[in-house]
Amino acid sequence: MHVAVIGATGMLGQPVTHELIQAGFSVRIIARDVKKVCHLFPEATIVAGDMCNVQSLTNALRGIEVVYLNLSVKQNEKEADFHTEAEGLINLLQAARMAGVGRIAYLSSIVMRYQGMNGFNWWAFDVKQEAVRLIKASKIPYSIFYPSCFMETMNGSQRVGRFVVLVGRSTVRPMFIAAHDYGKQVARAFQIAEDSQNQEYVIQGPEAVTQHKAAKRFVDAYKKEVLKIRTVFPLLLKLGRLISPQADYGWHITEAINKYPESFEAGQTWNDLGEPKTTLEQFAEQQ
Ligand SMILES: NC(=O)c1ccc[n+]([C@@H]2O[C@H](COP(=O)([O-])OP(=O)(O)OC[C@H]3O[C@@H](n4cnc5c(N)ncnc54)[C@H](OP(=O)(O)O)[C@@H]3O)[C@@H](O)[C@H]2O)c1
Repeated sequence: MHVAVIGATGMLGQPVTHELIQAGFSVRIIARDVKKVCHLFPEATIVAGDMCNVQSLTNALRGIEVVYLNLSVKQNEKEADFHTEAEGLINLLQAARMAGVGRIAYLSSIVMRYQGMNGFNWWAFDVKQEAVRLIKASKIPYSIFYPSCFMETMNGSQRVGRFVVLVGRSTVRPMFIAAHDYGKQVARAFQIAEDSQNQEYVIQGPEAVTQHKAAKRFVDAYKKEVLKIRTVFPLLLKLGRLISPQADYGWHITEAINKYPESFEAGQTWNDLGEPKTTLEQFAEQQ
């Protein structure tokens, strides 16, 4: 099967792309900067393409059966900017139709469901919800994945030097998942998908753990250096929102993660795509 990936350089795009290659798919990476991607994926074909440019996407997608989208709203992105998951997705769907792509696969999020709860309203979640609507309306068969928190974030956007930074304290217990476990599930979804079948899967890891407990377990098991947890008052970010897009992003995403009442929903996913097994300790040791 010929699978294209857009966003393969991303924090979550990298491990998923490796799993798709590992699963034996013929993987074509579509990227803005081909040189940047070459050393990351020597086994893959890399083709230039930009979510801003329909023609580049159409050329890059010829002969592709499934395109997997690992896109994001960046921390410094503003509401009025070009969004890869909004205008970019409209370009992509147009290109996919012209190139005859058979399936759109998209990494969404479970926590975007917090929109509208407790008066919460964030334009970035509108973008993510609209993306799902656009894909469903395209009439191209789709596979949409709605993950809980990824373990990678603790060693990615939450890492500041030797600190893992948390905002506020929450009793909510997300089911943290390692991205390579998720990548295996994505590969399995493609293997079992019937031609015109639509798939929607909630993605959750093996256990439900609070943010602080997860960070403590990660920090304790991390071998490369001594890490510490720092907890920031949400009020600080709330005030920072007035002057910094990053603080605005940070406040909104942590408010949603800290309050979205996640419960176990991945039973069907585990039946169809396999059960994720990587614990927080194993993840930390693999870093
Ligand atoms: N972190 C979590 O716990 C979590 C949980 C659930 C869901 N998610 C979702 O996971 C998604 C992906 O996250 P991530 O951290 O992997 O994102 P990321 O690191 O920001 O990656 C975004 C990717 O998009 C590519 N890209 C940006 N603009 C492009 C353009 N115009 N044309 C083509 N490619 C473009 C980037 O490529 P360049 O190298 O060219 O910049 C990069 O590879 C997010 O939407 C997030 O909502 C995350």
